[in-house]
Amino acid sequence: MNILIVGGGGREHAIAYALKKSPKVEKLYCAPGNAGISRIAECFPVKATEIDGIVELAKKLMPDYVFVAPDDPLVMGMVDRLNEAGFKTFGPRANAAILEGSKAFSKSLMKKYNIPTAAYETFTDAEKAVAYIKEKNSYPAVIKCDGLALGKGVIIAQNFEEAKAAVKSMMIDQKFGKSGAEVVIEEFMRGVEVTVLAFTDGKTVKPMISSMDHKRALDNDEGLNTGGMGTIAPNPFYTKEIAEECMKNIFVPTINAMRAEGRPFKGCLYFGLMLTDEGAKVVEYNCRFGDPETQVVLPLLETDLVDIIEAIYEERLDKLDIKWSGNSCACVVIASGGYPEKYETGKEISGIDENGQLSDNSAFVYHAGTKLENGKFLTAGGRVLGVTATGNDLKSALETAYKSVGEISFDKAHFRHDIGARALSFDKV
Ligand code: AMP
Ligand code: GLY
Repeated sequence: MNILIVGGGGREHAIAYALKKSPKVEKLYCAPGNAGISRIAECFPVKATEIDGIVELAKKLMPDYVFVAPDDPLVMGMVDRLNEAGFKTFGPRANAAILEGSKAFSKSLMKKYNIPTAAYETFTDAEKAVAYIKEKNSYPAVIKCDGLALGKGVIIAQNFEEAKAAVKSMMIDQKFGKSGAEVVIEEFMRGVEVTVLAFTDGKTVKPMISSMDHKRALDNDEGLNTGGMGTIAPNPFYTKEIAEECMKNIFVPTINAMRAEGRPFKGCLYFGLMLTDEGAKVVEYNCRFGDPETQVVLPLLETDLVDIIEAIYEERLDKLDIKWSGNSCACVVIASGGYPEKYETGKEISGIDENGQLSDNSAFVYHAGTKLENGKFLTAGGRVLGVTATGNDLKSALETAYKSVGEISFDKAHFRHDIGARALSFDKV
């Protein structure tokens, strides 16, 4: 079987690696891919958002499946276009990807089907939004763009001035373009965050191992929000009891709601959850695998990922038993100094071999933003590498990951020193 993966970050490297392990896979292609991915898949310089370009590439390569990994092409309808052209796919069609593409849509779906989430109101008028914030007078206030904004369209305002500025930046100054034409203002939830990725064929939902992202740039959850600075799996805060509660109150109702709305969701649905005093609530849905959650979840998957992709496409996920290893996994992201703001690229990375890996293979190095020039790996993005290790428990996975991080360097490299620290302290309780 030949498979084309659309995307080019650490997540796609992890997906490529999981597919590479399948005895069913003969050839792996990736567009655009990156330097790390190019060691295990043939890469083509077509951007993930170029729908016509990807359809053309598929016609040339004739893959058995196209795996569309990032949010933008999914929301733009790449899967619909590929299906129309006769290709089998992994990923939701546009009418289901809207679950991530529009927060106003996902919030109203949750309201209609009684799925627990933060109380909210939506606004298309900036003055009305500001008046509502003033009347509520409750801080922190959470202000979100309706549409996609590279994970940056959420502002947690600590007072009225900040909230007003947030509304202005989204709705008047259009800092996030059209994504901010409508805003969602919602209640601030307190608690521990958990990510649960779930396989679904639109009828059956099978949650994967839980994980925890670390979104802030600096240690102790300080600094700006990023795409994610590191992850661990499983998330020890997500107990068996909570998992059962989520299955009953959130996962199954969401899949059924989407089917009832004529928008069956096929692919991987990302549940961003907050474990509050009132139970688990949805922070957000994403219509795809998370990055860097995928990097710690897929290494624990024992079932062949190709079998899962086929079962989802053929809508027989209920018949497939999905197995997970009992190990833990940790991923520490090494970023360019300055990320998520301004940073330099083109720095030579030392400590990795010609495959972009550690010579002792103690950990796996997922490439997020790298390029190859004259046989050398150079930095090419904000998040550069995700150093990932498994272990019998979280502590040993973290020790191996951090030891390996210590062997890799480049000018102004930055990483967090406390990935998994909070989870470890919970583990000991
Ligand atoms: P989102 O893009 O909706 O996931 O929001 C990004 C991050 O903002 C989340 O991972 C949370 O850490 C935080 N966040 C979003 N909504 C809320 C909320 N209602 N209460 C507390 N934190 C939130
Ligand atoms: N790690 C968060 C995301 O993929 O959106």
